[in-house]
Amino acid sequence: MRKKITIIGAGNVGATVALWAAVNELGDIVLFNRTPGLAKGKALDLKSASPIGGFDLAIVGTDRYEDTKDSDVVVVTAGLSRKPGMSRDELLDMNAALVRDICAQAAKYSPDSILIVVSNPVDAMVHVAYKASGFPKSRVMGMAGILDSSRFRTFIGLELGVSVEDISALVLGGHGDFMVPLPQHASVNGIPLTDLLSEDRINALIERTRHGGAEILSLEKVSSAFYAPAAAVDQMIEAIVRDKKRVLPCVTYLQGEYGIDGIFMGVPVLLGAGGVERVFELKLSQAELTALQKSAEAVRTLVAQVRF
Ligand code: LAC
Repeated sequence: MRKKITIIGAGNVGATVALWAAVNELGDIVLFNRTPGLAKGKALDLKSASPIGGFDLAIVGTDRYEDTKDSDVVVVTAGLSRKPGMSRDELLDMNAALVRDICAQAAKYSPDSILIVVSNPVDAMVHVAYKASGFPKSRVMGMAGILDSSRFRTFIGLELGVSVEDISALVLGGHGDFMVPLPQHASVNGIPLTDLLSEDRINALIERTRHGGAEILSLEKVSSAFYAPAAAVDQMIEAIVRDKKRVLPCVTYLQGEYGIDGIFMGVPVLLGAGGVERVFELKLSQAELTALQKSAEAVRTLVAQVRF
């Protein structure tokens, strides 16, 4: 039987998640938006591309939670996104209420599903989803680290003029200004990044990565990034529905790992059919650990402001 993937929110991110999920035939797709007709229209448009695109799936749009029943994966993209000059944190109050309602409904109609949260500020929103759903921590996660790492890899590739395929790089921490790119763990097909670029250049790439989302927003003005965020979500969905046991940075619940307890934040996890099946604890330098803990404090401060 094909898996059922529900995407809540038919804006740019949600619709693009649906597009790639369809093209990669990850499962049947339900696109939900509370504005009547919006998700239905986009789903019909996408379904109409299937004879050309060669994907053969059920793709439906809806504004009724009943239609999301028994989903295997529920992706939460709904919520306001930033306007130029805003930080992700400024979305906290507005999006927390929305994410809470959505996740309560998702848990009611799809009690065995895995939740992937994208709405910002994502680390706090995953916490909201965790509480509202009552799901175990393995089945509630957020997308950020794959996106931030992909931006870091992209900027390294542009700087060196080499294929992004050969670049591996990891970004940990909260999805905000204190995220922690790890140059010591980055390589170009095994060649340490630190052998290829000066410290100054690496620091410039780190800064660009930290503000990667804001750079796009300041250019587009009317929209936050969505191609790369959606691609990152689809990599997570694929790891889950195909039980790939991928090792990817995701927003997950920490219980003492890295000396951090009781918050959701980005670290490498093993992603498979069970959701987050394992949390990896890298050996970090003291400076990296300090940066990660600073990022954790920023997340903790935000979570403390949420009215659960
Ligand atoms: C970004 C949004 C997804 O970083 O936070 O583009």
